[in-house]
Amino acid sequence: MSSLSYNPVDIIRRKRDGKVLSGEEIAHFVADYSRGAIPDYQASALLMAIFFSGLSESELVALTESMLHSGEVLDLSEIPGIKVDKHSTGGVGDKVSLHLAPTVAACGVRVPMISGRGLGHSGGTLDKLESIPGFSTGLSTEEFRTVLRRTGLSLIGQTETLVPADKLLYALRDVTATVESIPLIAASIMSKKLAEGIDGLVLDVKVGSGAFMKTREAATKLAATLVAIGRRAGKHVTAFLTDMDQPLGRYVGNAAEVNESLAVLRGEGPADLTELNRVLGAEMLRMAGVCSSEADAFSRIEHAIISGEALARLQRCAAMQGALVDLRDPNEPWLFDNLHTGAQTLLAPASGYVQRMDAEAVGFAGVALRAGRERKEDTIDPAAYIYLDRKVGEAVTAGQPLCHFAGAADLPKDRIERARSLLSDAYVIGPSPTPARPLILDVLR
Ligand code: URA
Repeated sequence: MSSLSYNPVDIIRRKRDGKVLSGEEIAHFVADYSRGAIPDYQASALLMAIFFSGLSESELVALTESMLHSGEVLDLSEIPGIKVDKHSTGGVGDKVSLHLAPTVAACGVRVPMISGRGLGHSGGTLDKLESIPGFSTGLSTEEFRTVLRRTGLSLIGQTETLVPADKLLYALRDVTATVESIPLIAASIMSKKLAEGIDGLVLDVKVGSGAFMKTREAATKLAATLVAIGRRAGKHVTAFLTDMDQPLGRYVGNAAEVNESLAVLRGEGPADLTELNRVLGAEMLRMAGVCSSEADAFSRIEHAIISGEALARLQRCAAMQGALVDLRDPNEPWLFDNLHTGAQTLLAPASGYVQRMDAEAVGFAGVALRAGRERKEDTIDPAAYIYLDRKVGEAVTAGQPLCHFAGAADLPKDRIERARSLLSDAYVIGPSPTPARPLILDVLR
């Protein structure tokens, strides 16, 4: 390790004790960690200190800017048109970006998207995309520009040259229980988004048992923090607060979620995913100024799906990013071969209605099946999945399936049992139906 002109332990100690760090200290720490001069254990300690002590406004700005400038900040002004992106704060079964980006691109708006991997119990767009054979999320910035110019969208991850600090800190937070922190989430999301060269951003701030923010109050605070950082940087930002008290769609697991997203693009998706596509998409079109009214935006989105253009866009982008399969073909063998066989079934212990679900427990069941990571170096199993036969508000008779789940044939038995026990605890069945919460809870414009 190279020598530093300051002692990282002092910075960690002062943050631990609730002191305010200077912008310079934060910038040095982030830059030195990004170049490998500060080890993971010290960065983990600082993350945990921030988790408990929080960050002042000036510290948050400094952290976001240091992460943003750890790599290149894209200037996409040579590519014509308004560029708008969307980012979710993370949930279970949240595969919306996979179908939203091509839908909006098919409506004439450019979508340059830098996403993340699974974080804690929540899934990540990159892990889902990489379950498509050949799909590469590690493009150079030149390749990213080319795909964006030619197809209207490009879906990549943080790289050694694009927000490398977030690439490293994100992976570290995932395995050090330092995800659920408003300043750490805000700096992570906004450093990525500000590096993209976008004009506008639609944020999907998740609230509920499967979100990092469990209460509306915390989610509103996160949304306001994200919007303030975006505005400060001169971007148009809208934040939606949306329900994450149960998983989105019926599938959790990487390849399975791609399949479900493709169903949305074929016009056959579940109602919640289709609705988020419509509402978040309409806001992206409004921001880009390509629709005359909300009704016009909805109708353009519907047309993009019905005409097949949204699916064609995704295929074009996927092919340019290395995909070896045709995502437009509903008979594509990969669609049928990409999930493990031999699924286990969880049966309802009693008759009644699903009154509540602990979506976080469902997410952790996915991690037990290796759909997510427990350690930085873990490889994930794209074919592991959970299928939710029953969701909130739905009736079930004792002995009928609540859900199915599967991991690899050689997955240790204790992992299967852990998944079963988490899923079993996740379902609350009672005698009367409780309606699911509305999907869209609030909008901050
Ligand atoms: N999404 C991100 O990019 N970062 C977070 O910390 C949480 C969600």
